[in-house]
Amino acid sequence: MPFDLVIKNGTVATASDVFRADIGISDGRIAQIGGAMDGAARVIDAAGRYVLPGGIDSHVHIAQPSGPGIEMADDFDSATRAAAFGGNTVVMPFCLQERGMSLSAAFRDYRHQADGKSHVDLGFHLIVTDPTPQVLGQELPALIDAGNPSVKVFMTYEAMRMDDAGILATMDVARRHGAKVMVHCENEDVIAFLAQRAAEAGDIAPRAHATTRPVAAEREATHRALTLAEVVDVPIVIVHVSNGAAIDEIARARARGLNITAETCPQYLVLSADDLSRENWEGAKYVCSPPPRDRTEQDNCWRGLQTGLFDLFSSDHCPFRYDDSHGKRNPAGLRSFRHIPNGIPGIETRLPILFSEGVVKGRIDLPRFVALTATNHAKAYGMYPQKGTIAIGSDADIAIWDPELRRTIRHADLHDAADYTPYEGLEVTGWPETVILRGIPVVEAGQLVAPAKGREVSRTG
Ligand code: URP
Ligand code: ZN
Ligand code: ZN
Repeated sequence: MPFDLVIKNGTVATASDVFRADIGISDGRIAQIGGAMDGAARVIDAAGRYVLPGGIDSHVHIAQPSGPGIEMADDFDSATRAAAFGGNTVVMPFCLQERGMSLSAAFRDYRHQADGKSHVDLGFHLIVTDPTPQVLGQELPALIDAGNPSVKVFMTYEAMRMDDAGILATMDVARRHGAKVMVHCENEDVIAFLAQRAAEAGDIAPRAHATTRPVAAEREATHRALTLAEVVDVPIVIVHVSNGAAIDEIARARARGLNITAETCPQYLVLSADDLSRENWEGAKYVCSPPPRDRTEQDNCWRGLQTGLFDLFSSDHCPFRYDDSHGKRNPAGLRSFRHIPNGIPGIETRLPILFSEGVVKGRIDLPRFVALTATNHAKAYGMYPQKGTIAIGSDADIAIWDPELRRTIRHADLHDAADYTPYEGLEVTGWPETVILRGIPVVEAGQLVAPAKGREVSRTG
């Protein structure tokens, strides 16, 4: 048989084109696009369907240590299962160096947790929180050189933030070893000051999470992160951007010639600070950082997606169970918003939300959708053209979408291990129905149909 699999009669989209063609797959790769294709072990008829590159979600948190008494809902099995059902074929979780710990040891242990458990392919980012001479002099360089050319630093969260000196030193190592630096931009001192004031006023409910993390704190930190990257001359990724003022900082820095990748997420398009005011502590379900803003900022983020300001649309999947003493409703969290773990689930809903709200509603076209959800991630993180496109020789990572399927998002239908979705009740049109990883169908007809065969992708800086 010339082909292991042929996908016939579909409408194929890449980041630059939409065209009708059959796709022939051999040995896990795309072997032929268009033309006669006789002889295949299996044929999938994709008439009336879109044939898209599998999604790459380059910002997810899986089984990340989250502080005493708090547990993330997902392990690699549940998170990547949910990712596959949501049309993804690669996810990129973060390996966290906890303060006082070795980054190399954290990486060895974290990677081990994924062994034999992942339903999609993986690339690991590193998080540095403690820039010791050992970490910056040996461990970080070795891990970057071994094929992990992306490192995240935090300007907020008391347990993880670094000061400017630490960020500069980390950036300098990244520059010398060809890595990108991903920055969480919020000014922790501003947040701590406002949170203290809120506590003194008895303002302890989830809503205060939004009011104590204002746009100004994100704008200032974005400006500072860009300035530090400019001084060091290192490529920077500004992750989970929530508002127009931060967007303006990015646009100005780009105009100065900085190498910037910019990312936003579904929560900044379809959620708002009002969700944090929901009664009975339900606002805790929406606590993430930066917080969702308002209608004006949603529009600003949409504009950023339309104009090309944003390169990446990621989920920032960071799942904590709601009704759980190790999750959102932990004992301290019920006493104050400051102790509600930050982060919301979204790995399975990222692509349907952007497809429905973006493509179906006419805000972006299909090639832009592909760029924002797959191709640009592969390019930004050193996986292109093996991943993120439909081209001869690329891995046959493909999601076949029913563009007309209407669904109401319900957590009961999703596959992560959280106990809620912040998008409950959102009506969407379009959903991936068949997901193929390196030529092997993983999800078909609503079922997981393959064992967990995800691999680490070899990346270049
Ligand atoms: O609230 C969020 N975003 N939690 C995940 C960790 C991070 O900051 O990306
Ligand atoms: Zn972050
Ligand atoms: Zn994150």
